[in-house]
Amino acid sequence: MLRVMAHDVRAVEWTGQGLRLIDQTVLPHRLEHLDVRDVDTLVAAIRNLAVRGAPALGVAGAFGVAIAIRQAEREHWDDAARDAAIGRIRNARPTAVNLAAGVDRVLPLVPKGLDAVVAEAQALLDEDVHGNRAIGRHGADWILARTPDRPLRILTHCNAGALATAGWGTALGVVRELHARARVEVVYADETRPLLQGARLTAWELDQAGIPYLIQADGAAPATILRGLVDVAVVGADRIAANGDTANKVGTVSVALACAEAGIPFVVAAPWSTVDLNTASGGDIPIEERAPEEILAWNGAHAAPEGARAYNPAFDVTPAKLVSALVTETGVLEVSSGETPRRASSR
Ligand code: MRU
Repeated sequence: MLRVMAHDVRAVEWTGQGLRLIDQTVLPHRLEHLDVRDVDTLVAAIRNLAVRGAPALGVAGAFGVAIAIRQAEREHWDDAARDAAIGRIRNARPTAVNLAAGVDRVLPLVPKGLDAVVAEAQALLDEDVHGNRAIGRHGADWILARTPDRPLRILTHCNAGALATAGWGTALGVVRELHARARVEVVYADETRPLLQGARLTAWELDQAGIPYLIQADGAAPATILRGLVDVAVVGADRIAANGDTANKVGTVSVALACAEAGIPFVVAAPWSTVDLNTASGGDIPIEERAPEEILAWNGAHAAPEGARAYNPAFDVTPAKLVSALVTETGVLEVSSGETPRRASSR
């Protein structure tokens, strides 16, 4: 398999003509790109998880506005049609606040034209990569001050790596930083149902980085923690409410509950752009429900009894009291001790 260094993994890039996305549905077997030049293709890529992960969705959303502007010019849309198309991008997935926030960040620049929108979207991309490096450093410092003085056994859920961001990663950024400091023994990568973001994508990234890992079933995670096999759990986030409640990939709350029971830290690593002060608490976070067939099929073939129905939430909410630390690019907040999310100055 082709080796790709973390700084070369560009999940989302602007080519001048449109967006170039790594097609995350075919990894790890193939590293292929999608060239996106129209809104329908972008919305489909977001919905089928060709591009995914909250910060990557934010950047895709911001560049998506540029795609809508170009398509509007090409196809002679009026402003109403263009704005409706931008709205479809903004609403393509509901849980990760970054998608809407990325669109909203560049919207005021639409009257100034394509170049202004592209420049702002590129600034968002650059900030994300830069911020992830800071998240890695802050998270590693915080974890090393609170864990045994030896290489650590780390658990992560879903994929919060370079693929899920503009580069480097949030939770995996922390893992990369710990690895650079020779403080990783092994990473337990939860496979992540139903689309195997852990078994396919996190495992691929860890493999590329030469970081030892074990893939485990999501259902194994709490017992692995309770058996004393894990020193710390680090996960990403899709939306963090004003009170610190955190939405992330379904299965995350089981990890947090087990960490609390075992008395080990449960760390959320996310850019400040994932904090949504307009959402009061976890109950107000919209949770995406995906197609039943993702649960009812196995390996492409329908597996459940004919007529079986499914409940398929893509995310769950971890209450703030279970979050030991919220690591953003601005520093670390100990939300379970009552610190509410606020933009800290860098420490
Ligand atoms: O459905 P996905 O794959 O987009 O879900 C992604 C996650 O839950 C990630 O943990 C989260 O977006 C953080 S990515 C840095």
